Amino acid sequence: MKYVIGVDLGTSAVKILLVNQNGEVCREVSKSYPLIIEKSGYSEQNPEEWVEKTTEGLAELLEQFDGDANEIEGISFSGQMHGLVLLDENHQVLRNAILWNDTRTTKQCEEIYSVVGKERLLEVTKNPALEGFTLPKILWVKENEPQLFERARTFLLPKDYLRYRITKKIQMEYSDAAGTLLLNVAERQWSHEILDAFGLSPEFCPPLVESHEFVGTVTAGFAEATGLTEGTKVFAGGADNACGAIGSGILSEGKSLCSIGTSGVVLSYEERNDLDFAGKVHYFNHGEENAYYTMGVTLAAGYSLSWFKDTFAKEEAFDQFLAGVDEVSAGSNGLLFTPYIVGERTPHANSAIRGSFIGIDASHERKHFARAVLEGITFSLNESIEIFRSSGKTIDSIISIGGGAKNETWLQMQADIFNAKIEKLASEQGPGMGAAMLAAYGCGWFPSLKDCAKAFIQVSKTYEPIPENVEQYKKLFLIYQDVYTQTKTLNDQLREFRR
Ligand code: XUL
Repeated sequence: MKYVIGVDLGTSAVKILLVNQNGEVCREVSKSYPLIIEKSGYSEQNPEEWVEKTTEGLAELLEQFDGDANEIEGISFSGQMHGLVLLDENHQVLRNAILWNDTRTTKQCEEIYSVVGKERLLEVTKNPALEGFTLPKILWVKENEPQLFERARTFLLPKDYLRYRITKKIQMEYSDAAGTLLLNVAERQWSHEILDAFGLSPEFCPPLVESHEFVGTVTAGFAEATGLTEGTKVFAGGADNACGAIGSGILSEGKSLCSIGTSGVVLSYEERNDLDFAGKVHYFNHGEENAYYTMGVTLAAGYSLSWFKDTFAKEEAFDQFLAGVDEVSAGSNGLLFTPYIVGERTPHANSAIRGSFIGIDASHERKHFARAVLEGITFSLNESIEIFRSSGKTIDSIISIGGGAKNETWLQMQADIFNAKIEKLASEQGPGMGAAMLAAYGCGWFPSLKDCAKAFIQVSKTYEPIPENVEQYKKLFLIYQDVYTQTKTLNDQLREFRR
């Protein structure tokens, strides 16, 4: 038997999958690491921690594996997007990585608009200036840590840095480069215009490669530390959302995905690179060659739920914590939650907004709060679906993966709030499976990613919208949307009290 490995370098953990030629997951290891939150709005990680935890995880996986390491043909990656890893001339990391959910860069986003112009930025990069993207982070370091920035020679995104440590080769691939605001997304090359506008040289940007491209081999040192064979083929990999799409078979027009990890996204496959969504949703290169996807992002989706559980019931497992949410009817007895605990992206690009529970009543128990959190996250994702629908897209069937696919009540809730059929996959592995599929395709096991998806991915269950719940949620959604408008000024005023 032959195998590939998919490594998903997430925000809360690295998840490693060993997958065989039938698409079966034979071994699985996960190692978690913390966020470094120095103050409100900041979110960092130490890249060394990613390398250590991946090395430990791979060593553990190889130890459990009863086959021969030579049978593992290739390895590829999925990664949290946008995080800035700055490197000096010797490729040493200069500071902690500033992550996608760090929102310290509002001022830099304004600067980008005033220098490039909003319309021109959208023409070139297809995306607006958002705090989470990489260019604002580069400008923040340039302005706030000038001496350190003087030593910076290049930058990488999280999984590209991890791959560099495995192969000693520096590259970035298109699906992640799309989230930097430095790539001309349609032309698939670094934008010299944007680089010039901010005094960055073209050499600052790494060479670009395809997601399934063979980009190097496992070094002797990394092989020794993990048990992998020296020379195992390494394939570039993709952004976690692109890999989530690949791993769920979102590989043709009309297919949509709802993926709930730390963030939550709704994304839709696009063949074309010339559509205009006026920056309301992100528009990125897919991990499939010459394809694209559009996407809306809820910054704290799974994170809202884990924050709530860890704050009020740290010792409980998720299943235990969510037991009882099915006993509460749609609408949580008049309790509404907005998941803006770290600010928001879609449809409100606002780093100052914060979450609310509205309508707390003396009759509410913990299960009402838990259900309200699930509903609030799902309402937020529905805002992205509304944008897609109002742009003319038909969204009547959605594959659901991640945290939202692990709970029956939440799956039905998605069908009812999205008013669409929800499909659950037989073996749902999220972005790690997409990474494994990039390695499988890269190794030549299949003539295309679509053929690989046909062999690896099956839908196991579908959830149809229940008409009474759909009606109930339609009314509640309007109130949910109003909470943003009604709490915006309050949250602006509260900002100065945050530490
Ligand atoms: C996408 C985004 C998040 C991260 C999470 O733009 O910022 O979904 O990719 O890892």
